[in-house]
Amino acid sequence: MSHVIAVCTHKGGTGKTVTALTLAAGFASAGRRVLLVDLDPQAHSTIGIGVDAVEPTLRDFFERHPSILLADVIRHAPSRDGLDVAPSDLRLAWTAEGLAGRPKKEDLFRRALKQVSANYDVVVIDTPPSLGVMTQNAVTAADFILIPAVPEARAADAIADLLELVHLLKGEAFSAFRIVLTRFDGRKSRTNAAVLAALRPWEGHLLRSVIPQSEPLNQAQMARQDVFRFDPSSVGAQAYQDLINELQSL
Ligand SMILES: Nc1ncnc2c1ncn2[C@@H]1O[C@H](COP(=O)(O)OP(=O)(O)OP(=O)(O)O)[C@@H](O)[C@H]1O
Ligand SMILES: [Mg+2]
Repeated sequence: MSHVIAVCTHKGGTGKTVTALTLAAGFASAGRRVLLVDLDPQAHSTIGIGVDAVEPTLRDFFERHPSILLADVIRHAPSRDGLDVAPSDLRLAWTAEGLAGRPKKEDLFRRALKQVSANYDVVVIDTPPSLGVMTQNAVTAADFILIPAVPEARAADAIADLLELVHLLKGEAFSAFRIVLTRFDGRKSRTNAAVLAALRPWEGHLLRSVIPQSEPLNQAQMARQDVFRFDPSSVGAQAYQDLINELQSL
């Protein structure tokens, strides 16, 4: 299984954060040593996993390394043994702008991660809804890209745009990416069929596991817990467990 998984797409609200933090919690509950990295200034995965977005965060790392190292901002998640978090906060948005003109700006996180990666079996990176510098850092550091896609208009366009960036950063031959359908509503059968047809160019990259629309996933976010703790018998928890099993079998 891949070691560094980036959950990416610039389309907003597709379940990147829920996917990243649920995978991280699921791997940790299976006994793996996990680092959840929040590269989104919205800090939703930081907050959602129960960590407060207080300094130092990744913003301090990006702005003040090497005097602040990645290791200095990593914290234990209160809810799970074996789960650490590199938290974000809103100030990361300004950092991203400040890095814009800097050479090799997309490689900063990959180089820092090398210093801590031996401590972890899996690293899961949540990214903002943009193709900007934070997503570029996530893609550059990752050995596997997971793209959550909601079956709705322009889902395929967003995947094509992201893959253009991925191939630019990692070379045309890079193929370690998979698409997972999220927030799936089986009642929208015509839309779902149209979206599946639009995804045909990436058929071999579409995961079998599908994440349905499931309110406990939403409620778990509000309770600042992962769904395996909040409602382990929900269809959302089961779907994410299937996804974890499928990813482990790749
Ligand atoms: N499968 C699901 N069932 C029900 N609600 C979901 C599901 N997945 C995500 N949600 C809810 O939908 C909203 C968007 O999800 P999430 O924050 O994970 O998306 P995102 O892609 O990270 O968004 P952004 O692009 O803003 O970072 C959240 O309120 C979340 O709780
Ligand atoms: Mg998010």
